[in-house]
Amino acid sequence: MKIVNIVGARPNLMKIAPIMDAYAAVPEISPLLVHTGQHYDRNMSDLFFRELGIPEPDLNLGVGSGSHAEQTAEIMRAFEPIVIAERPDRVLVVGDVNSTIACGLVAVKLGVSLVHVEAGLRSFDRSMPEEINRILTDSISDLLFCTEESGVENLRKEGVASEKVHLVGNVMIDTLLRHQSRAEASTVLEDLGLEARGYAVLTLHRPANVDDPAILGQLLDALEVVARDLTVVFPAHPRTRAQLATPELAARVASLGGLRILEPVGYLDFLKLMSGARLVLTDSGGIQEETTILRVPCITLRETTERPVTVELGSNQVVGRDPQRILAAYREVMSSQTVRGGIPPLWDGRSAARIVEVLREGA
Ligand code: UD1
Ligand code: UDP
Repeated sequence: MKIVNIVGARPNLMKIAPIMDAYAAVPEISPLLVHTGQHYDRNMSDLFFRELGIPEPDLNLGVGSGSHAEQTAEIMRAFEPIVIAERPDRVLVVGDVNSTIACGLVAVKLGVSLVHVEAGLRSFDRSMPEEINRILTDSISDLLFCTEESGVENLRKEGVASEKVHLVGNVMIDTLLRHQSRAEASTVLEDLGLEARGYAVLTLHRPANVDDPAILGQLLDALEVVARDLTVVFPAHPRTRAQLATPELAARVASLGGLRILEPVGYLDFLKLMSGARLVLTDSGGIQEETTILRVPCITLRETTERPVTVELGSNQVVGRDPQRILAAYREVMSSQTVRGGIPPLWDGRSAARIVEVLREGA
């Protein structure tokens, strides 16, 4: 069975790494890896291949950035001849980025079975580009692997046949558990002069948070208060960095003494930063899950989450972008002696093995 596996953006790399590893134990499957090139900076892509031991992509489509239509269309245009030439039995996509839906559409239109890893997650907010990508990808997939029970339930409500759906746990957590002890050896805290629990970690990249300077400025109002108590370490996504450099915000950001803006950091350093933090503030999807396992308080700067198990069982609070609500959650975290949280079912480091076993059975 030939399976073409797709990566494009940073979070896809943590998800594909354990799946590529698990294929190695299954001789019936010959995997190919295709990188769309959606992310291309060294610290948004190449670095993770090396750190996570992901094999070099067999092909890189080199598509790069663009509007949604341009990026999605260019990926489709570049991927179609590959599917025609390779004639895979399946195409496997992960997550919810433009590369996910673009390659999924190409596959099914050529009659190739589509596998979606991280299926069924729903924020129920259709203004998020990822929500559109999730709904569309799930609706054309032949095999759907879910990280949490809410995903299974959402797919059932949408009428997806139950035999296509498998609850397997979370491949991003496979990667975390596999690399946790290596991350412990990172010297990033010493390098940045930080003490464990003496700082917060911040990430922001959702268009709804960063594209409008007025909204990003409102988030900075809250972060300014946090930065009076704790150093706020902020590895900034390129989308966000560009906004922070605009005339509306540049001077304000420069005056925020406690805010340490960095380039995006590697996975091992980032894992070490998260695990040593007093709290994490984020609008990332994956980071809500990783902090759940690390049992580090997470304040999610969004109105919704597609990962409700991180709130029900984990250490996550979804507070939106109103500074008063953010600061109320922050004060609650700072005054609390204990961290809420438990481990969601099947987030045990064996999710990729379960996925590959289902794929093998279908070989
Ligand atoms: C994408 C995903 C988002 C995911 C995020 C992970 C979509 C619709 N969005 O958002 O779901 O959470 O990746 O990080 O697929 N840029 C660079 N260098 C790079 C990559 C991007 O400078 O290597 C800049 C470009 O100016 C680009 C912008 O970032 O226009 C946005 O990149 P894009 O891939 O379109 O979306 P993300 O915001 O990264
Ligand atoms: N991450 C990283 N370095 C950083 C920021 C994030 O290695 O500077 C990792 C993080 O640990 C997680 C993934 O990138 O594994 C999350 O990616 P991102 O937040 O870009 O995407 P999302 O999960 O929101 O789609």
